[in-house]
Amino acid sequence: MKCNLFLVFILLALTACKQTSSNPNNKDMDRFVDQLMSQMTLEEKIGQMNQLAIGFDITGPILNEGVEEKIKAGSVGSVLGIYTPEATRKLQELAVKESRLGIPILFGYDVIHGHRTIFPLNLGLAASWDLDLIERTARIAADEASADGLHWTFSPMVDIARDPRWGRVSEGAGEDPYLGSLITRAYIKGYEQNDLSQNNTILSCIKHFALYGAAEAGRDYNTVDMSRIRMYNEYLPPYKAGADAGAATFMTSFNEIDGVPATGNHWLLTELLRDEWGYQGFVVTDYGAIREMISHGVGDEREVAELSFKAGVDMEMVSELFYQYGPELVKSGKISEKVINKACRRVLEAKYKLGLFDDPYRYCNEEEKAKRYFTAENLAVAKEAAIKSMVLLKNDNELLPLDSTKKIAFIGPQVKRKRDLIGSWSAAGDYNQAVSLWEALDSKFGANRFLYAEGCNLLEDTLLIRKLNGFGSKIERSEKSSQYLIQEALNIARRADVVVAVVGEAFSMTGEAASRSDIQLPENQRELLKALAQTGKPVVLVLMNGRPLVLQWENDHLNAILETWFGGTMTGPAIADVLFGDAVPSGKITMTYPRNLGQIPIYYNYKNTGRPIHEEQKYTSKYLDVPNTPLYPFGYGLSYTTFEYSDLTLETGHAPSVQEISINIKNTGKYTATETVQLYLRDKVASITRPVKELKAFQQIELQPGEEKTLTFEISENDLKFYNSDLEYRAEPGEFDVFIGGNSCDTKQATFTY
Ligand code: NOJ
Repeated sequence: MKCNLFLVFILLALTACKQTSSNPNNKDMDRFVDQLMSQMTLEEKIGQMNQLAIGFDITGPILNEGVEEKIKAGSVGSVLGIYTPEATRKLQELAVKESRLGIPILFGYDVIHGHRTIFPLNLGLAASWDLDLIERTARIAADEASADGLHWTFSPMVDIARDPRWGRVSEGAGEDPYLGSLITRAYIKGYEQNDLSQNNTILSCIKHFALYGAAEAGRDYNTVDMSRIRMYNEYLPPYKAGADAGAATFMTSFNEIDGVPATGNHWLLTELLRDEWGYQGFVVTDYGAIREMISHGVGDEREVAELSFKAGVDMEMVSELFYQYGPELVKSGKISEKVINKACRRVLEAKYKLGLFDDPYRYCNEEEKAKRYFTAENLAVAKEAAIKSMVLLKNDNELLPLDSTKKIAFIGPQVKRKRDLIGSWSAAGDYNQAVSLWEALDSKFGANRFLYAEGCNLLEDTLLIRKLNGFGSKIERSEKSSQYLIQEALNIARRADVVVAVVGEAFSMTGEAASRSDIQLPENQRELLKALAQTGKPVVLVLMNGRPLVLQWENDHLNAILETWFGGTMTGPAIADVLFGDAVPSGKITMTYPRNLGQIPIYYNYKNTGRPIHEEQKYTSKYLDVPNTPLYPFGYGLSYTTFEYSDLTLETGHAPSVQEISINIKNTGKYTATETVQLYLRDKVASITRPVKELKAFQQIELQPGEEKTLTFEISENDLKFYNSDLEYRAEPGEFDVFIGGNSCDTKQATFTY
């Protein structure tokens, strides 16, 4: 019986997929899924909603048991946490050959900023403002992941984040909804290519739905409470962009919304996502998130499972409560079988679109993998991405680029260390394959021409080291005392013309469950920097980190600062090129850098209040003890050259544009360089309060020294729209200020009427 059914099934599958392998036609898919589902028991349908964790690099506390037996029983729709053609083939064979209906498994994994070839962490990629580059990195990630047995990445993370204490700011695009939405689309395009039937495209996953980045006080997994106005205007746009772009899947978030955990929130998952946005893909929970609703305090195991079924979850990640309670919830009439049918159908549709019914092993090709990982082309893009993500935060007296004929001392724990270079969430990346700065200097110039000292340990705090080493940080403290290390560094620094200090966070100080209450550089690193500054030698600070840091002291006392994030596999060569002027930095930060911790949350698109900030007037909305501006504003980043911005020229636009705005940009310096020209709008009077500034457009231009170009921006009615207090998306007539500049603070301004 089993064998016959299996044959019938294979025949059906082959017929259906032959007709559809290039461009799946919904009717064929519907027919195929109808036929398949008509053979499925309730338990098997619920099985498709069950995702189990197995294998390596698991991110939560639970690992599932009895996975193989459950696969054979048809109780598993997806597996997360393993890759390689060999490992996935083994499980796929169990599903296809040994389960009653032979439905293939979907293999998911966190491919976040590259798979084998690792790109800079996502906040760094966002700082490139280069959508084509971001799409290319996602394309390469999908190509490598699909050659490694994977069908599905849990990326992009599109959560807007305004609190740099939150460790996961490193995984997102920063604080702006407009830029965040464009970047969301770029990732989806790179992963899916609008064609999942190709054998190197994978499902993307918009996460974490929703508002996960607004966790109170930046403490991961914490409570979120937010008005609908803020949600719709400021936090939801990137998720909506993902739904509109047809991302194959969504992931729920761990936080609550309006007192109901997102994973059990019917308003969020059904009324908003399905009814309002018309989303067609499937929704997976985050890791164990259904079970976690017990700790949230909204029910016991059975009740939280029921909540999630009813809310509109299609697949449960690891906590197996659907599997455990689903059948009895249906049989007792608590939930309708229709709910199960819808969810099961969506999961099967995703498998169909990937062509898995055609060939369940199409992603398990052992020969492909060798050809597609870590190619010269991929490494070239990794280097380009690392260069374009770097942000020059300070460069007094044109200290950078360095003159390689000078005596240069490289000092700091990150000069030679490799472990952190690929950052957190570096999937199947191997940090041993990453190139350190010292190795890059060696191959570029021969390292013996430079001076070196370790200067300090990466960290001194033993408790923190113990915690981080538990997550694979490999932080070791030198046998030399910290005083000795500093002394050694000073002796080296005194022999040099310029000091380059390379310091920062350990990779595991950012990412999931890596919130920090103090976002300065570690204390021992600051001591080293103070000692170096006192030598009177010019000091370049090269930073490796995964979030905006508090850098007020460094800004005041050091001569140049280069933010390099965790730059990925090609970190070293990219930094070496930028330091010595073979590449010109062009990155612009996408999160505000505060002056001190107390200013957080600080972001550029704030509201004015009735008592706008005024440093000199007492009763205004401000802090007394710090300038009421960021240290580095959103959109900020210097170049080795300088750009001059003309005044703005305004003309009435030709429909659909309502206003045309032109500006002339001139390269007034010595280097050919790229500038990201940003346009912000302010709606001066509206039915609800509006931000002082909102990014609405940007263009990147490359200019030779002395070259100038005129850029024209077209503002359409759509750019003026916002959600009003009835949550209608409307533009209101009136005056608008327009600002254009190289960052959100230094801008040329004009006004137009709509
Ligand atoms: C938990 C994280 O929040 C999520 O982003 C990730 O995709 C899953 N674990 C799976 O690893």
